[in-house]
Amino acid sequence: MSADHATTDHPVVDAVFETVASTAPEVRESLVGRRSYEEGENPSGEQQLEADIFADQLFEEALLALEGVGSYASEERDDVVEADEQSDEDYHLALDPLDGSSNVKSNNAMGTIVAVFDEPLPAGGDALVAAGYVLYGPLTTMVVACDEQVSEYTVVDGERTVNEDELTLPEEPTVYGFGGRVPEWTDDFAGYVGLVEDELKLRYGGAMIGDVNQVLTYGGVFGYPGLRHRSEGKLRLLFEGIPIAAIVEAAGGRSSDGDGSLLKKTPEALHERTPVFVGNDEFVERLELALE
Ligand code: F6P
Repeated sequence: MSADHATTDHPVVDAVFETVASTAPEVRESLVGRRSYEEGENPSGEQQLEADIFADQLFEEALLALEGVGSYASEERDDVVEADEQSDEDYHLALDPLDGSSNVKSNNAMGTIVAVFDEPLPAGGDALVAAGYVLYGPLTTMVVACDEQVSEYTVVDGERTVNEDELTLPEEPTVYGFGGRVPEWTDDFAGYVGLVEDELKLRYGGAMIGDVNQVLTYGGVFGYPGLRHRSEGKLRLLFEGIPIAAIVEAAGGRSSDGDGSLLKKTPEALHERTPVFVGNDEFVERLELALE
C-alpha cells in the first residue's frame, strides 16, 4: 500500500476500499455499450440497465473474495449473498453499484455507494463501521468516512491518491438540490423549500452521489422527501440513506429522515425506503422544524 493512501485502523475496511477503487475503472469503461435497459426490474421496482447488472457482478466477485467479508447485499439483488467461509468477525457490505444509473443515457454523473457493517444485513447505523462512495464525474473520485474522519481520493488506473484527508462541510453553504416532482411535495416541505431558495442556489443532477458531493464541496442541503403518494420517498435506507448520512455527519453536517438522524434507524427489510436529508446543520434543523 503506498504512502499516498490515508488508511483506517481496520485492515478489512482498507481492503474493501482498495478493491472498490481498483474495480471502479472497469465499471466506468463498461458503460460504453451498456446504456440499454434489461427486461427485468430491480427489487425496488426500477428498470435495470445492463450497466447496473455488470457493475453489481464485478463488485460482488471482487469484494466477496476478500478475507473478512462475510456477505454482500446490493440494490440490484433480492437477497444477501454469503461468502463461502463465514466467521463472527466478518464485515457485511451493502452496495448501490451504480447510483443514478439513469444518468448514463444523458452522460451525467453517477456513483457507487459502499457501506461496511459489523453485523449481518439488514443492519442499522449503530452497526456501520465505514461508508464511502465513488463519483464517476469528469474525474473519478472516492470519499471514505471511517472513525469520524472523511477522506477524499482521486482514482486513476485503479489506484487512489489522497486529495484531502479531513474533509469537512464548508461553513457558508451555497447549494441545494431536492428530488421528486413539485406537485408531489407536501405543503410543509414546499414551504421549507421556499425558505431555502431565498438563501441557496439550485444544483440538482438526478444522481444522489453527484448531488451530495456538491453539498460536501460547497455546503448546503440535499434531500429526497416523502411524497404525497409515497410518504417513504424514493431512496433506500440501507444502500443510500445510512451510508450518505454517515459521511455527511462525519464531515460535520447533519442527516435526517425528517424527524431525526438516519443513523438512528435500522431497516426491517433490505430494500426499505426513507425520506433522506443531509447537509449543513442549520438547513437540516430547519427542515425538521418545518416538518414537525
Ligand atoms: O436512487 C436512485 C436515484 O437515481 C438517486 O441517485 C437520485 O437522487 C434519485 O434517484 C433521482 O430521482 P428523480 O429522478 O426522481 O429526481
